[in-house]
Amino acid sequence: MLYDLFRVKELFQNKHLILGEGSNILFSGDYDGTVVRIMLKGIEVTGKKDGYVFIRVNAGEIWDHLVSFCVSQGWGGLENLSLIPGQVGSSPIQNIGAYGVELETLFVSLEAFDKLKGESVVFRHKDCQFGYRNSVFKGRSGGRYVITSVTLRLKEDPELNTSYGSVAEELKNMGISSPGIKDVREAVCRIRRSKLPDPEDLGNAGSFFKNPVVPLRKYNDLKSKHPDLVAYGAGNGMKLAAGWLIDKAGWKGYRHNDAGVHEKQALVLVNHGKASGKEILDLAGRIKDSVSRRFGVSLEPEVNII
Ligand code: EPU
Repeated sequence: MLYDLFRVKELFQNKHLILGEGSNILFSGDYDGTVVRIMLKGIEVTGKKDGYVFIRVNAGEIWDHLVSFCVSQGWGGLENLSLIPGQVGSSPIQNIGAYGVELETLFVSLEAFDKLKGESVVFRHKDCQFGYRNSVFKGRSGGRYVITSVTLRLKEDPELNTSYGSVAEELKNMGISSPGIKDVREAVCRIRRSKLPDPEDLGNAGSFFKNPVVPLRKYNDLKSKHPDLVAYGAGNGMKLAAGWLIDKAGWKGYRHNDAGVHEKQALVLVNHGKASGKEILDLAGRIKDSVSRRFGVSLEPEVNII
């Protein structure tokens, strides 16, 4: 049925946009093309082997429904990725990640519709060229494919990842010394609810910028001037906490008309009501300029700007 729609030649020959939940998109204005919303539902266990369970999930499943379902089954791996807005089909595009886990560590393969060839194709892990919030689907040829399902590998006997400082701290606050995956999910949900606004209540697309990776020399220079700079090792360089840079540049809680910076997490831009996409973009531009002037670091958007 869906493929029948995809085979309507006019659809992909004309301006079009494939949309999931739209939770990581900023529209800079009205969109004058066809919007196709992916609504394919279904979760299927395709096999079990060596303590792993393999699940094939259709692209239109809500990401957090999947996480909740897997946690309730006792299958480990996704719990740190709790409460991330969006659909399963979008998750590999930006290799979603949170609290020490990235999707690619659980990813086996995906199925996509190739608009050019007019047929279904399979991408294995190595074909996806995953990076930090990046994959082949974000590159130049990315627009060629419509992801229709994703296969993940979870653990029947879960190994917990509580290495991210705030998760360990939250578990301690909850009074839990030997946590299970349900506790980790609960801890992650609590942290997210305390820092990140719910898009249902306050318009936002999560982190607006990526955390920038800078050479070691640049990091050392900044660290000597700002000893409280927050950063993590990343290959040959260091990944700086963009939220820290924006916060230090004085933007946290800023508001101009309805476009603002979240008061609890400076990396999240928010729409207090009627801000246009252009107003949010203008604010993002001002923040980018200010961080560049103050720290000599260039911020790049994490959200997709249409
Ligand atoms: N910080 C500040 N001030 C702020 C915000 C952050 O000083 O206003 C500092 C804090 O010291 C904090 C550090 O920056 O410890 C890092 O902040 P946080 O733990 O909130 O993580 P992040 O780097 O800002 C990334 C992801 C989030 C993900 C969290 C948790 C990116 C672009 N963002 O944010 O993902 O939930 O880590 O793992 O990598 C998203 O992609 O939309 C998203 C929300």
